[in-house]
Amino acid sequence: MVTTHGPDDSAEASYDPMRQFAELAGDVRDPYPMFAGIRADTPVMEVHFGAGFGGRYQRDEKAPPITSLFTVTSHALAQQVLTDNVRFSSAASAMTTGLVMGRTILGMDPPEHQRHRALVAKAFRARVLDQWSDTIIGATISELIDAFAGDGRADLIPQLTFPFPVRVIARILGLPEADWPRFLRLSTELIAVMRNWDRAVAAGHELRGYFAEIIADRRRHPHDDLVSQLIEAEVDGHRLSDDEIYPFLLLILPAGAETTYRSSSNLLFGLLSDPSQLAAVQADRGLVPQAIEEALRWETPALTVVRTATQDVELGGVHIPAGGFVAVSLGAANRDPRRYAEPDAFDIFRADKQHISFGDGAHRCLGMHLARLEMRVLLNAVLDRLPGLRLDPAVDDVHIHGLIFRSPPNLPVLFGPA
Ligand code: HEM
Repeated sequence: MVTTHGPDDSAEASYDPMRQFAELAGDVRDPYPMFAGIRADTPVMEVHFGAGFGGRYQRDEKAPPITSLFTVTSHALAQQVLTDNVRFSSAASAMTTGLVMGRTILGMDPPEHQRHRALVAKAFRARVLDQWSDTIIGATISELIDAFAGDGRADLIPQLTFPFPVRVIARILGLPEADWPRFLRLSTELIAVMRNWDRAVAAGHELRGYFAEIIADRRRHPHDDLVSQLIEAEVDGHRLSDDEIYPFLLLILPAGAETTYRSSSNLLFGLLSDPSQLAAVQADRGLVPQAIEEALRWETPALTVVRTATQDVELGGVHIPAGGFVAVSLGAANRDPRRYAEPDAFDIFRADKQHISFGDGAHRCLGMHLARLEMRVLLNAVLDRLPGLRLDPAVDDVHIHGLIFRSPPNLPVLFGPA
């Protein structure tokens, strides 16, 4: 039997995950002019730091100190880095979040990466997603909208987009509902690793203990959930050990919950800020998929992924030494004018709908089909159940912010007859 109450249940009552997330995003309203300025100057910019950069995140004492990083802002070069695992290694992620979560596929290089990814990918195949569509994703959205549909007003961030993906993940993992508040708190603390290291490490330990009980339970009594599927997944006679399953379970919290909450919020913000595009999608639901792709391009939820050069590399005319730290700005790449006409405009009818928000190459997001499905179910439910949806005119300064992650902190709306 799985424990349903943690040692510090009192912490749930006073903890405000929304504030934690708002602080984490950073209060930068519009980083795009800065990206455009850098890109116009050079597609790869070396940023120098003092010898102490990396600080507590650089725990590998044998590694040379990080004193600079190379920021990539062009779309073509971002793709080049992400699709070249030989010259650009993903091991850099082990220096940051990897230290909290343990070894995950995010920080692995080929051939280890392919082997490991093939095993966990089994739990995300199309047949499984179809199964989750109504039972988990549809049910979760309905219960959240039920709670405010009669009120005529809501703040769609705390009442809808924020709780939605964590609840979906809690259900996909098969966690008992009584555990959700604790799970939400621990997930948020883990994700906020760059803000509060010690709290994230403690949350990682607690979650690991919690997952250990769940895994032990599912080994005895398999359920129809992700944990059971991870236990049973087999490729070439190899199965995942418990020590390989824990880090993956920890990874899908930041990878799957935070990104999807922000991307859904940005989609709603884009449409609510342009009532003609909102009306077009309302009238023709066939436009929902392209609205989703455009929102992902226009406001990239997670702006940067990191790599390290495995050898001396020439990139965009800039020399990167072996061991150089490379920050690929997905946000800047998605607004590159050499790739997109009028890149700053939110335009669901644009011709080039491909974006790089899910990354590229071997590490391309494993959960992208789930994320798209969640966004589609959410937008359709909002359009079906909240007629006349519009921004609340009494609240001004509704905006998107953030430099590491981006999304609106609030989305106050009215609905019902205008
Ligand atoms: C809109 C939502 C999402 C965005 C923008 C996003 C973005 C990304 C990006 C950029 C990467 C590549 C990182 C790199 O190359 O270093 C990635 C990888 C990954 N994502 Fe997502 N993600 C989203 C949703 C999800 C969901 C819902 C899940 C699962 C529940 C998920 C699970 C993963 C995993 C496991 C990886 C690692 C893949 C690998 O290393 O092979 N993501 N994601």
